[in-house]
Amino acid sequence: MSDSHVQRASRVPAADSVPTRGEISGPSVCDALRRAARALVPTSTTPRLDAEVLLAHVLSLRRAQLYVRWNDPLGSAAVERYSGLVQRRVAHEPVAYLVGKRCFYDVHLYVDRRVLIPRPETELLAEEALSWARARSGRPFRAVDVGTGSGALAIILAQHLPRAQVWAVDLSTEAVRVAKRNLRLHGLGARVNLVCGDLLTSLSGPFQLILANMPYIATKALSGLTADIIAFEPRLALDGGQDGLDSIRRLLAQCPDRLARPGLILLEIGDGQGQTVCDVARNYLPHAEITVCRDYAGLERVVRVERHAPTGSDSVSPRTIVEDAL
Ligand SMILES: C[S@@+](CC[C@H](N)C(=O)[O-])C[C@H]1O[C@@H](n2cnc3c(N)ncnc32)[C@H](O)[C@@H]1O
Repeated sequence: MSDSHVQRASRVPAADSVPTRGEISGPSVCDALRRAARALVPTSTTPRLDAEVLLAHVLSLRRAQLYVRWNDPLGSAAVERYSGLVQRRVAHEPVAYLVGKRCFYDVHLYVDRRVLIPRPETELLAEEALSWARARSGRPFRAVDVGTGSGALAIILAQHLPRAQVWAVDLSTEAVRVAKRNLRLHGLGARVNLVCGDLLTSLSGPFQLILANMPYIATKALSGLTADIIAFEPRLALDGGQDGLDSIRRLLAQCPDRLARPGLILLEIGDGQGQTVCDVARNYLPHAEITVCRDYAGLERVVRVERHAPTGSDSVSPRTIVEDAL
């Protein structure tokens, strides 16, 4: 949970924050926050933050503005709405779904239960993609975000790389609807080709950049996830099969025909999956340079599979490097 849930500045006064005529005045902002934070202790590792984000959402304020209104009484409509949201949070519903948004990299995205809530660790995938693309000195290229969910990665690519032609694909029609909403929200509806389909099956290459945050949790590990995740986020976004790598294996099998030379595949993985994913990648792309990148916590997070240009350099000997992202 982070400041990412904070609303943008509201120019209008918070209509619900003061009782309207005839309304019985409710608790002050301060009292409401204290009570909510107490109620959230058994559920959340960040009860106070959650309480503030939810109240700021109800009052259409920034979190910091709550402190300016510290002693203001809440109107009964605000009290009712706030207590409804707090109850849902007590029942483990993630704050991002309750407020309908999440910040990812440098954009705000609409999210609901149809899509995975974009995670900060996936920003490493975005950073790797942007730094690879910038090193191409502005040459146009085709990129695809496989398993786009909310559209997070495709939106970052389209916003930051004006020379890129971007595709976004997801198997879930529900997720595609959310991605469509986010693309429109960011004025990218015409810039990103949004497709409902299975991996790269319905797309023809070549792509210079294939980006994928596929489900990578082993089925048997799903029961160990927190209730916030397992009871609310889509199973299709989480369940990676027996060892978590079903979709990644299938995707890598499709890449030899779809990846351009030169071209790059970036795959998000879980810690401990690096070696297996490198082996699978080497099997399908034996001449590629394969690298495991670690995140800021030192965990394996991204596998980078780089296919070099054919002229002589295609005979680069296969190698695997484990390097720190730091
Ligand atoms: C871990 S989520 C990632 C969502 C988003 N890219 C992000 O990083 O926040 C995986 C996504 O892959 C989609 N997915 C699962 N299997 C798929 C498949 N075979 N083809 C395309 N998309 C798939 C899921 O619906 C889900 O939206």
